[in-house]
Amino acid sequence: MIPAAGLATRFLPASKAVPKELFPVVDKPALQYIVEEAASAGISDVLLITGRGKSSMVDHFDRRLDLEAQLEAKGDHDRLEAVRRPAELASIHSSRQPEMLGLGHAVLCAEDHVGDSPFAVLLGDDLIDERDPALPRMLDLQAASGGIVVLLLEVPWDEVHKYGVASVEETQDPDVVRVTGLVEKPPREEAPSNLIVVGRYVLPAAIFDAIRKTPPGSGGEIQLTDAMALMINEGVPVRGVVFRGRRYDTGQPEGYLKTLVQLACSHPDIGPVIREWLVEYVEQELKG
Ligand code: G1P
Repeated sequence: MIPAAGLATRFLPASKAVPKELFPVVDKPALQYIVEEAASAGISDVLLITGRGKSSMVDHFDRRLDLEAQLEAKGDHDRLEAVRRPAELASIHSSRQPEMLGLGHAVLCAEDHVGDSPFAVLLGDDLIDERDPALPRMLDLQAASGGIVVLLLEVPWDEVHKYGVASVEETQDPDVVRVTGLVEKPPREEAPSNLIVVGRYVLPAAIFDAIRKTPPGSGGEIQLTDAMALMINEGVPVRGVVFRGRRYDTGQPEGYLKTLVQLACSHPDIGPVIREWLVEYVEQELKG
């Protein structure tokens, strides 16, 4: 499931009529990267949690037969393939979150769709570079030993207050830790570590009951972090896969712009031209 009901206030006015999830990241919407990541990990059923004014997100993953016919008539096969691709990635479903009561509440909106099986939650603000996939490892770990699996990333201490933060113990595997506690957006001095939860989770269906038992937390919202902390206290095993790859935070304008530059530079077609131009541009800027 992909929670995408938010108002994206940090991007206003750009996000007033266009969902932030559809903002382009080089040559496709941010949300397409997330669905592609899920599809590459073998997930064939994707549930988007949407909100008011955001149905164009679902349209992006639908066929556009009129456009396809035009491109076909012109013989523009590359664009035709690009237009068809979103609809071929997975079976896309959507459900509305009627009120913005927090990430935990958004996850609860997936209950009817998910049923009893474990499922993955992918947050759109975190882009994971397709060259460094983490989800397959997380799914394997959850399938092998149950419980919850989260993706963790070491960040500078002055950033921990923006995230869910984990207390951990090492395991024999250098890339996997046992999570002994989780706290949402702690002040730096209260953070148990500088390992933050990146927006990738593999959860058992028991999370729904835990969310129902979770009172509003940080920001007055029902937090997924708090529901997972409750499950830790109930003895449910929670493991963290420590991510060492490339991750881009598109949740605020500065990070979004940096992501555009980074991914444009590594794009197979336009990358070389953009890199050359960027070097020249920066040299000019430095000269003043
Ligand atoms: C959410 C989660 C937080 C997590 C973060 C990752 O926060 O609540 O625990 O670390 O995503 O991006 P948000 O960015 O919605 O404030």
